[in-house]
Amino acid sequence: MTADDVRRLLQAASLATPMALRVAVTLGLPDRLCAPATVDEVAAELDLSPIALGVLCGHLGTLGVVERIDDRYRTTEYGKNLCVEAENGLANLLDLNRAAGRAELAFVELEHSIRTGEAAYARRYGRDFWADLTEHPVLRKAFDQQMTDRFRTEIPEVVSGIDWSRFATLVDVGGGRGDLLAAVLEANPKLRAQLIDLEATAAQAKAAFQARRIADRVEVRGGSFFDPLPAGADGYLLVDILHNWDDEHARRILARCAEAAGRAGRILAIEAVSGIHARTEMDLVMLAHFGGRERRVEEFRTLASEAGLILTDATALTSQRGLLEFRAG
Ligand SMILES: C[S@@+](CC[C@H](N)C(=O)[O-])C[C@H]1O[C@@H](n2cnc3c(N)ncnc32)[C@H](O)[C@@H]1O
Repeated sequence: MTADDVRRLLQAASLATPMALRVAVTLGLPDRLCAPATVDEVAAELDLSPIALGVLCGHLGTLGVVERIDDRYRTTEYGKNLCVEAENGLANLLDLNRAAGRAELAFVELEHSIRTGEAAYARRYGRDFWADLTEHPVLRKAFDQQMTDRFRTEIPEVVSGIDWSRFATLVDVGGGRGDLLAAVLEANPKLRAQLIDLEATAAQAKAAFQARRIADRVEVRGGSFFDPLPAGADGYLLVDILHNWDDEHARRILARCAEAAGRAGRILAIEAVSGIHARTEMDLVMLAHFGGRERRVEEFRTLASEAGLILTDATALTSQRGLLEFRAG
């Protein structure tokens, strides 16, 4: 092993830089320093330790996020990507008081996840991710926004990549704010749908459908996908749902879909497929945050058969997600 290898490994393992960036965003420094200011000025405004803030700004300078001009710091063009106003979703992801940032801190309990297979999140916060979101509406809002941001560019590909004309009725199970379902409904004027999600998110979906003037073709239900789902639809959609859950829960969700779909309905799961979409880091995120994971096609097949379903098709859909289709076995 060379000294360079040691240095690179140490750098990869260091928590200082990720935490410096996250704390900077949490304190709103990239936004604040769009107008140049001294460390003392910002420390007084935000009630921070001037010495510690100087240390943080020094490292942010090394990272190219801020630059020093005389005795003042200013956010660089690169650093402006971290501003709330950049509207790229990064600030929402990194802020430690919002859903993604808070969840990321659960990584300090990763060893617990690896030993037990359980989520690190519940170990750190005393309740699972979804219960925590229900307890803290501000986290719920941030998470729903995160879901909208992460899918924005991919939705057109998903809409055009599936033959929706096969379905007269569709149930979006855990459909979030309904961004995808709205786009599918807009592209398929004869389609009618239902969306199920937890109460607070369902309320947002309802408002979004009204704003897009498609509320007459979609019924929104606040509730749990562990309870019986509306029966008899042609299609049941699970988008980025199964990877949030361990096998037992994923099986229960699939079983609810199977029960509702009956012999004629089809179940479509859209998510990353392990071995095809190489997202090992996201795989760890699913484990630490939720006790879930990204599954291989064969694992989906096994889960489905345990829920009374047959995997009939597994195809590439986008660069990040596959399409898995199931029907009653
Ligand atoms: C990763 S998000 C995906 C949302 C949406 N399908 C999308 O692709 O944007 C998972 C969704 O599952 C919902 N969810 C979690 N637990 C649920 C439950 N027990 N019943 C219904 N929805 C639930 C969350 O509120 C969230 O909207």
